[in-house]
Amino acid sequence: MLTGTRDARGRALHDLRISVTDRCNFRCVYCMPKEIFGRDYAFLPKEQLLSFEEIERVARAAVALGVRKLRLTGGEPPLRRDIEVLIGMLAGIETDDGSPLDIALTTNGSALAHKAPALRAAGLDRVTVSLDSLDDATFRAMNDIDFPVARVLDGIRAAREEGLPVKVNTVVKRGMNDGDILSIAERFRGTGVTVRFIEFMDVGTTNGWNLAEVVPSDEVVARIDAVHPLEPVPPAYPGETAGRWRYRDGAGEVGAISSVTAPFCGACTRARISADGKLFTCLFAARGHDLRALRGVASGSGASDDELRAALAGIWAVRDDRYSEIRSSATAAESTESAPRVEMSYIGG
Ligand code: GTP
Ligand code: 5AD
Ligand code: SF4
Ligand code: SF4
Repeated sequence: MLTGTRDARGRALHDLRISVTDRCNFRCVYCMPKEIFGRDYAFLPKEQLLSFEEIERVARAAVALGVRKLRLTGGEPPLRRDIEVLIGMLAGIETDDGSPLDIALTTNGSALAHKAPALRAAGLDRVTVSLDSLDDATFRAMNDIDFPVARVLDGIRAAREEGLPVKVNTVVKRGMNDGDILSIAERFRGTGVTVRFIEFMDVGTTNGWNLAEVVPSDEVVARIDAVHPLEPVPPAYPGETAGRWRYRDGAGEVGAISSVTAPFCGACTRARISADGKLFTCLFAARGHDLRALRGVASGSGASDDELRAALAGIWAVRDDRYSEIRSSATAAESTESAPRVEMSYIGG
């Protein structure tokens, strides 16, 4: 039995993040800058995408190795046609110990208003919606396609009406939306929606990252605490990305994801698969392990399920990544070096 596979640093494999498309209808300035992701940008051709059957098969193998959280990411996952069919397939995976699988989706919320019922009916457990500002002009400038914030708020409302738990992710970029921290916190205080503020990261090589534009989580938390007193909450699970705080008056929680100022590699249990079937053991990896060699689910000509599981276990067993920790001890460098790294829109957040 391979359950409980540990990497070279003793970290279990718990969380599989599956990118279903590298395309997105937004051009967020910190993720898919328009100048790079323009009309002639070469996105993955359709025939290179893993099929739903292939994704399900990899997910099953990962679940057999101990994964209990499946997160669909992108790009923008709802752009993948019939995404709810995939969700239904993943929701049907059983764990060997009967423990539940948590199926989550990261989205920009642009299509949630009409997709929420189908996503819920298919078996989705929860959604995480990216929302960088409540100020319409700032929101439109950050998504850079002039998308109105009201439609994302409608999407959040629709998801909640379907009974889907919602988290909001806010990437904070100094000089752009750091003035919106308090208004976002206040908008969701007392609603049951947890907002997590994310430090702008040096992921990929095209977003022009600069340390001066990172707003440290300590500052974010202090700004909220000054108006609505907060107290820390212990992590919900080991290796949680977000530090958690609760409002002392009982109005719920906020989180802060500090991958620049307080990296959390020590307990990182996350693996990622790109839409074209490469397994990445770190968000900042330069290269993935090509799982397409293990194709053949329909024809039976590829690797067997046992071989796929053994391949995943073997890759995980030698995993040594801890990019954010290494970067933070070398933060003298004020901007990203040119080391090759995959883009966030390709590998998912
Ligand atoms: P929950 O299960 O709801 O706690 O979600 P999560 O925090 O695992 O996932 P989510 O997609 O909401 O992640 C939020 C953000 O944290 C991502 O968009 C990334 O910016 C960052 N993040 C997530 N995982 C990692 C990681 O392994 N390394 C780093 N450096 N950042 C990460
Ligand atoms: N730094 C931090 N977070 C980022 N995201 C995308 N690019 C970056 C970055 N450079 C976030 C998105 C979304 C999640 C998928 O990742 O806003 O919430
Ligand atoms: Fe699209 Fe999300 Fe990247 Fe924005 S952050 S461009 S919504 S993938
Ligand atoms: Fe995990 Fe890599 Fe992120 Fe560290 S930098 S938390 S090892 S994905």
